[in-house]
Amino acid sequence: MTQNPHTDLPAMDAYWMPFTANRQFKKNPRLLARAEGMHYWTADGRQILDGVAGLWCVNAGHARARIVRAIAEQAAEMDYAPPFQMGHPKAFELAERVAALAPAGLNRVFFTNSGSESVDTALKIALAYHRSRGEASRTRLIGRERGYHGVNFGGISVGGMVANRKMFGSLLAGVDHIRHTHDPARNAFSRGQPAHGADLADDIERLVALHDASTIAAVIVEPVAGSTGVLVPPVGYLQRLRELCDKHGILLIFDEVITGFGRTGAPFAAQTFGVTPDLMTLAKGITNGCVPMGAVLASQKIHDTFMGGPEHVIELFHGYTYSAHPLACAAGIATLDTYADDGLLTRAATMQSTFVDALHTLREAPHVIDIRNIGLVGGIELAPRPGEPGKRAFEVFLNCFEQGVLIRTTGDTIALSPPLIIEAQQIGQIVETIGAALRRVA
Ligand SMILES: Cc1ncc(COP(=O)(O)O)c(C=O)c1O
Repeated sequence: MTQNPHTDLPAMDAYWMPFTANRQFKKNPRLLARAEGMHYWTADGRQILDGVAGLWCVNAGHARARIVRAIAEQAAEMDYAPPFQMGHPKAFELAERVAALAPAGLNRVFFTNSGSESVDTALKIALAYHRSRGEASRTRLIGRERGYHGVNFGGISVGGMVANRKMFGSLLAGVDHIRHTHDPARNAFSRGQPAHGADLADDIERLVALHDASTIAAVIVEPVAGSTGVLVPPVGYLQRLRELCDKHGILLIFDEVITGFGRTGAPFAAQTFGVTPDLMTLAKGITNGCVPMGAVLASQKIHDTFMGGPEHVIELFHGYTYSAHPLACAAGIATLDTYADDGLLTRAATMQSTFVDALHTLREAPHVIDIRNIGLVGGIELAPRPGEPGKRAFEVFLNCFEQGVLIRTTGDTIALSPPLIIEAQQIGQIVETIGAALRRVA
């Protein structure tokens, strides 16, 4: 490895880091070198408690032996298999296993390599579905303000985060957005689902009145918006979205890239909230973050719509070289075994009262203007420092890292999503560390 001539760190110029303040980072790098269970260790040997499951993905904790072994064995047995016009047994096994966990009716699984790819895949399936059934005019895609659906063109078009969109031109045509559900004036410091805002789903009626339902293919939302600061759906909101989509023949897509695999207390948020979408996007926790993988779950009805033509013809002209990669499938199966053995897909429901009680001890801490939670997801919103949005929260992040706890910040919200194996004492450590950091920053 090329060394930085002035330090014992590697040379850092070549790596253009994603979603990172590159120049700031490279002046003061934070390098992780090892991980196990609830912890990382930095390159200089400090232990860091992981408050964010890596990036909302390491739900079973780090370096789980069964998953590590499955990946190593698979690499030795068969490193790669082409997924087009060929298959391998573990792809079918994992698809069956994922479908068995999903809400009834979502039983067809299309593999991708990331959340962003899952989102673009789901949007393409929605468009092609309407076309296959003779409603080719349904081309409009509806997202939601403050939505995050990854970084590919489809995802940023339906997404609602200004920084992710403003640099990249006109994006997909024919996209519109419903309003977000964040309403601190009425809902601040709600425990679990906020009481107010189900009526915001009626925005679909507004867009139907504007564009006509016959032009709308799908609505995509995160059941719990994560990247824009943990926005928990108001009571009744998702039910209302479902009703309105049904009323107008619009597909409902849940982006469960972060909520999937136990984060909200059930395998999927669709089950936590009792609302089943037509398509669901997954990634992250599907392999415990160990090998990149994503998936789209489709209802049988959607899938079967594609199956009407001659049998020798490819039904969906879509897929990736690494769809259902053998290493990812092996990791996925071992991950689901680990979740089952440890009861992790429902553990967030058991731990959430401890978690929410601990979070709410920060209510009187300096700068805190709201606390939001569901399952093992927590958001602590800070008042922005005048003229410097996001900077205060980022300083809290740096402070916590120095004190041995990894958190994540988005704008001025601290977003917590610890591995689902977390214990009460570790929840305490995270919250105490954040509290101390809040008292330290200006
Ligand atoms: C809801 C949601 N969708 C999509 C994505 C994109 O996933 P990826 O970074 O794997 O492309 C994310 C990532 O955090 C996400 O939170």
